[in-house]
Amino acid sequence: MKALQVISTNRVELREVSKPEVNEGEVLVRLSAASLNRRDHWIREGKYPNIIPNTTLGSDGCGEVLEIGQGVPDEWLNKQVVINPNVGWGDNSNVQAATYQVLGMPTNGTLAEFIVVPHHRLAHKPTHLSNEQASALPLGGLTAFRAVFHHGKLQPNQHVLITGAGGGVSQMAFLWAKAHGAIVSVTSGSEKKLSKMLETGAAHAYNYHQEDWAREVSASGESFDLIIDSAGGAQFNSLIKLIKPGGRLVYYGATAGLPSKVDLYRMFWNQITLQGSTMGNDQEFLEMLSFVNQHQLVPMIDSIRPFDQVIKGLDRMKASQQFGKIVVSLT
Ligand SMILES: NC(=O)c1ccc[n+]([C@@H]2O[C@H](COP(=O)([O-])OP(=O)(O)OC[C@H]3O[C@@H](n4cnc5c(N)ncnc54)[C@H](OP(=O)(O)O)[C@@H]3O)[C@@H](O)[C@H]2O)c1
Repeated sequence: MKALQVISTNRVELREVSKPEVNEGEVLVRLSAASLNRRDHWIREGKYPNIIPNTTLGSDGCGEVLEIGQGVPDEWLNKQVVINPNVGWGDNSNVQAATYQVLGMPTNGTLAEFIVVPHHRLAHKPTHLSNEQASALPLGGLTAFRAVFHHGKLQPNQHVLITGAGGGVSQMAFLWAKAHGAIVSVTSGSEKKLSKMLETGAAHAYNYHQEDWAREVSASGESFDLIIDSAGGAQFNSLIKLIKPGGRLVYYGATAGLPSKVDLYRMFWNQITLQGSTMGNDQEFLEMLSFVNQHQLVPMIDSIRPFDQVIKGLDRMKASQQFGKIVVSLT
C-alpha cells in the first residue's frame, strides 16, 4: 500500500509499505480521506520531538472498516468511521497521561491507504458529511471543542476573538462558537481570508499585520470574554489587552513563537485567566461529533488533492496559503 512516511528527521516521502495486519481488539480501516494538520508540517520540518523514521504521518482519517480482529463487536464491520487520534489519554479527564501520544507519530497514522487501530478509536462518521469533510474533523475539531467549551467556558452571546482564521483548528473553533450562539470576531494575516470570514458570519475581522490593529479594536470599544489563540509570539500581549475583566485567553499552540514578555500587571488586576489547552479527552471527542451532528456543521475545506500530491499540500500549509483544511483523497 502507499503511505506518506518520515524517512529521516526532516524528509518525508510517499512510498510503498506493507499493509498492516489486524490483531485481537483491532480493526483494519480502508481510508478514503485524510486531512493535514500543522503537526504534519512540524514533523516534516524536523521540528517535532522524538521523530521516528519509517513512521506513517497523519492524525485525521475517515474510511470503512474492512476487517475486525478477535473480540471486536461485529457491528463495526463495513461501517463508515472517523478515527479518534488520541492514543492513551488516560483516566484523568482534566489532563492527558504522561505517556499520551497523538496518532501519526510514533504510531503509524492516516496518510496511507490502510490503517490498523484498536476498535475503541472508532466513531461513526457524521452522515451529513462527505468522506473528505469528515476527515477534516478529528484533531482540529477536538482541539477546538476543548478550547471553546471545557477551558473557554463559552456562553451564548459572549464576545469571542479567534486568531489566525485561516487555520484548521481556528475555523472549527469559529464554527463551534457560532453554533453555540456567541458573537465571534477573527484575526488573519490575509485580507482575502478576512473577507471570507466576514461572509461566513464573523462579527469583525482584523488584520494582525497592521501594526495598530489591537489599539484600533480597543478604541472602538470592543473587548472579549474569550480569546482563542494558537499563534503566541509578539502579539500575545496585545491579546491580553483585549480581554474583558474576568475573561479568558485559551491557547493551544505557538505558531509565531514565544512572547518576550507577558503583562502580569494587567492580568492580575483584571483577573484574567491564561489557559493552555491540548487536544481533548475521549469523551470530548464523542461530544464534539455529537455537537457537529446536532448542529449539522460542515468543516471548511481549503482543497482536496489526490494522494500523489500530498507533499504539495504540505507546501501549501508551510506557506499558510490555506483557508480551512487541506484534505487528501486516498481512494
Ligand atoms: N495543543 C494541541 O493539541 C494542538 C492541536 C492542534 C494544533 N496545535 C497547534 O496550533 C497551531 C495551529 O494548528 P493548525 O493545525 O490549525 O494549523 P494551520 O491550519 O496551519 O493554521 C495556522 C494558522 O496560523 C495563523 N498564524 C500564523 N501566524 C500568525 C500570527 N502571527 N498571528 C495569528 N495567526 C497566525 C495563520 O492564519 P492566517 O493564515 O489566517 O493568518 C495560519 O493559517 C499550530 O502551532 C499547531 O502545532 C496544537
